[in-house]
Amino acid sequence: ADALKIGIAGLGTVGASLAKILVERRDMLTTTCGRPIEIIAVTARTKGRDRGVDLSAIEWFDDSVALAREAKIDVFVELMGGAGDPAYSAVKAALSRGVHVVTANKALLAAHGVELAGIAEKNGCILNYEAAVAGGIPVIKALRESLTGNTISRVYGIMNGTCNYILTKMEKEGLSFEACLKEAQRLGYAEADPAFDIEGNDTAHKLSILTTLAFGTKISADDIYLEGITNISIDDIRAAADLGYRIKLLGVAQKTDTGVEQRVHPTMVPLDSVIAQVDGVTNAVAIESDILGELLMVGPGAGGNATASAVLGDIADIAKSRPGAQTVPALGRPAASLAPYKRAQ
Ligand code: HSE
Repeated sequence: ADALKIGIAGLGTVGASLAKILVERRDMLTTTCGRPIEIIAVTARTKGRDRGVDLSAIEWFDDSVALAREAKIDVFVELMGGAGDPAYSAVKAALSRGVHVVTANKALLAAHGVELAGIAEKNGCILNYEAAVAGGIPVIKALRESLTGNTISRVYGIMNGTCNYILTKMEKEGLSFEACLKEAQRLGYAEADPAFDIEGNDTAHKLSILTTLAFGTKISADDIYLEGITNISIDDIRAAADLGYRIKLLGVAQKTDTGVEQRVHPTMVPLDSVIAQVDGVTNAVAIESDILGELLMVGPGAGGNATASAVLGDIADIAKSRPGAQTVPALGRPAASLAPYKRAQ
C-alpha cells in the first residue's frame, strides 16, 4: 500500500523522540499499520542540532505554515505548542486543504478546538490529539470512543507531570520548589514557559478538553477556577502528611444540577487513596460513568517518549483508516452540536 506521508512541525523533546521512533521502527510500523509511515517534511526553530536521528534527506521547510500549505503530505503533525500562531494558522491551513492533523497542543485546542474541529469535519479530515492530555495515557480515546453511550458524571485527576514531579520531589527529597522545577525542565517535562505548569493553566487547558468530551459542552478554559502550586511550601506538605493527606494538583470537572463545575487547585487527598500514590511525572485520570462505572488510568504524563507514544498512536490510527471512511468526530460529537458551556452556580 501507499506510504502515509507525514510532515512534522517542531523537533523539540517530543518531535525528536517521534522522528527517531518512526525511523527506527519503520518495519514494525509498516507491518502493524499495513503501510509504511514516512516523514517527508519537517520544520524546526533550530536546524543544525543533533537529534539522534538523520533527517538530512527529508525536505526542510522554513516555517510551519508553509509546510502545512505546500508539502505533499497526508498528515500534518504539530508539535510546536502555543495557543496562537504559528501553530493556529498552520493547523488551520492543513485542515482547510483536507490534510489530517495530529497535535499535542492543549493550549491551541483550549483556545480554538471547537473551530478547528468544525473545519476538520467540514473537510472530512481527522483531528487527533491524544498527546494533548495526560501524555501517554489514552484518555482521549477512552472518552471519545470507548465510553460512547455512557453518561459521564465526573472526570478528575493529576494532569500535569511537572507539578506532580515537583510535589513528589519536595516531599521525598526535601528539595526546594525552584530546584525541583529546574530538574523538571532539564528532563523535558515542563512547558517552554513553566509558569503554565506551576500556575495551573496547563492543567486547565487539559481539563477543558476533557470537559468537552465528557459533557458535550463547548471548550471553556476561561471558566475554570484556577489555583496553581506556587504557594505550596515543604511545611504545607509536611502538615498535610501529619493529618494523613498528600497534596496533589487536581483538575476536576463534574456535572451539577445547574451546570458543569470545573476547577484546578492543590487538593489534600487521603494517603491511602490511589491518587495519593501517583508519584513523580506520572499522571492519573479518573472517569465516572453510568454504564462502565469508575475507570482510573495511570501512566507517564510528560516527556519525550511518553508524549511521542501517544502521537504515534494517533498517526497509526490514520494510517490504518480507510480513505473516505467515516471518522470519529474530533470532539466526540459534531462540533456544531456542542452545547454552550454552562458554568455551575
Ligand atoms: N508540561 C506538561 C506537563 C507536559 O508537565 O505535564 C505534558 O503535557
